Amino acid sequence: MCGIVGFTGTQQAAPVLLEGLKKLEYRGYDSAGVAVMDKDRIAVSKVTGRIASLCEKTGQGKAVPGTTGVGHTRWATHGAPTEENAHPHLSNDGKFAIVHNGIIENYLELREELTGRGYHFESQTDTEVIVHLIEMYYRGSVREALIRTTNRLQGSYALGVICTEEPEKIFAVREASPLILGIGVGENFFASDVTALVSYTRNVIYLEDGEYAELTPDSVRVFDCSGRILDKEISRVTWDVRAAEKGGYAHFMLKEIMEQPGAVKATIEPRLKNGKVVFDELGMTEKDLRSIRKIVITACGSAYYAGCSGKYVLESLCRIPVEVELASELRYSDPLIDSHTLLIVISQSGETADTIAALKEGRERGAKTLAIVNVLGSSIAKLAGMTVYTWAGPEIAVATTKGFTTQLVVLYLLAVYFADLQGLAASVYAQLIASLQALPRQIQQAIDMNPSIPELAGKYHGSSSLFFIGRNTDYAVALEGALKMKEISYLHAEAYAAGELKHGTIALIEEHTPVIALCCNWTIMEKTMNNIVEVKARGAEVLALSFRGNQKILSAADDFLFIPDTDPLFSAVTEIIPLQLLAYYTALENGCDIDKPKNLAKSVTVE
Ligand code: AGP
Repeated sequence: MCGIVGFTGTQQAAPVLLEGLKKLEYRGYDSAGVAVMDKDRIAVSKVTGRIASLCEKTGQGKAVPGTTGVGHTRWATHGAPTEENAHPHLSNDGKFAIVHNGIIENYLELREELTGRGYHFESQTDTEVIVHLIEMYYRGSVREALIRTTNRLQGSYALGVICTEEPEKIFAVREASPLILGIGVGENFFASDVTALVSYTRNVIYLEDGEYAELTPDSVRVFDCSGRILDKEISRVTWDVRAAEKGGYAHFMLKEIMEQPGAVKATIEPRLKNGKVVFDELGMTEKDLRSIRKIVITACGSAYYAGCSGKYVLESLCRIPVEVELASELRYSDPLIDSHTLLIVISQSGETADTIAALKEGRERGAKTLAIVNVLGSSIAKLAGMTVYTWAGPEIAVATTKGFTTQLVVLYLLAVYFADLQGLAASVYAQLIASLQALPRQIQQAIDMNPSIPELAGKYHGSSSLFFIGRNTDYAVALEGALKMKEISYLHAEAYAAGELKHGTIALIEEHTPVIALCCNWTIMEKTMNNIVEVKARGAEVLALSFRGNQKILSAADDFLFIPDTDPLFSAVTEIIPLQLLAYYTALENGCDIDKPKNLAKSVTVE
């Protein structure tokens, strides 16, 4: 969703801001703009559509003089994606420009109040109230005006502000929206995430809720809401700049699919020591585990499907009941969560608004909370009692791939870890460890053994509907496979528990309807095979996904996708690979904008 950047230094600001905005493009947006301090006035340039148009409009930023500025990519919420609604927004006196990520919930009453006081509004956005409040409260100190303004705001915000009265400064404040300061030499920055900063500096400060920052080219000061200076830790970003570049691939999504063997290895390796699963970050004892009566997993989208898959593994190995609930539902459901609940929240970005709210709900009810997160220093990572990082590296494509598989693997590791705390036979434990260690290699095999996927995509890309079916973990993978197909190829795709077909959905099966049947669970393979027979009898075209050695499937289906022999407990992680590739090549056939699908955002920071 919206992305913000700020820069103050000695080089021209606009090109730096535009570069930063390009790095934030993946978050999803529909308009963009920059505001730069030019001597005693602020120059604003905005466009609807892509950053490329803003670059063109500003001569790659060179036509905009000035060394201090802020920039923004907007994903429309309040008001259509027009130039008027694009950020930055200016105060009526032209002294202030602001950029905002988040939602101001009480903007209507503030707008009414400000209108009554004579302030004039140029846009339909919730954001514009902020800049007029700052103007109203300004008495010679931007910092103080900002504190008084934020005291009036309800909702979420990461704000960047510039002011003609303090022309070398950029100001920032956050509440429930990500914001990171970049510490350079003779220049300083802020941005919604580190990808916009790493080409300039690897030294960053993670701003926390309720903290204000004031940056000049040579200084960075962070305050709390009473104006007290805070001593903030500077962290070093360790990943390579190239990790956030396409590296010769046509799309980030394809690159990230191919990175999965390495990403999963990076998730597993630090947690395996001397043949044991270790989670130094948890510090859980057998007694702690015994106090847990149930596990509740909550998340959104693909992270939720990772949870659905993890449920089978946790229940099978630990025999603890596991409930999986969508975060957007859990937060409003008066959930049965207490101090005997382990609440596991899963989020690649660590900034998903619904997941944050569900986590807070769980904390308030006394649950032990554990977050599985990819983005370092993100809100969820900080809020949770325990945090386990997936170490997948930056994920840029909106459609998650390595984010999902590394979440699965953390759930597997946790299941084995908990099972061991409860007491596992040494031989069973050793077998599970060997199965985990084999996963990176097996993921690579799953990539390599399906060269026919582009051809299959050519066959299915024009379908009006695709059905994904499976049972148990196969069903969880079917859900994720269908979501991948929907979000990037824009084809209607639905997943069904195979046994449910005859309770209604089979009515939709007709001649040539594509059914993607997941048969990677030996124990119930026969049952899904029966469902294949049923849909084929009604004319369906079946694309079966199964183990390479499954001879039976060869006579049952029309087309095939294969995975190597994977431990059935962990097979979801190899099974999803061909489905990711199928979605990718189908989207390619359909000429879709694969890395930035329409209407979607990478990190959903609003409810
Ligand atoms: C997945 O491809 C989606 N883009 C989306 O469902 C995503 O998984 C969901 O929004 C949750 O995001 P998070 O993991 O960052 O919390």
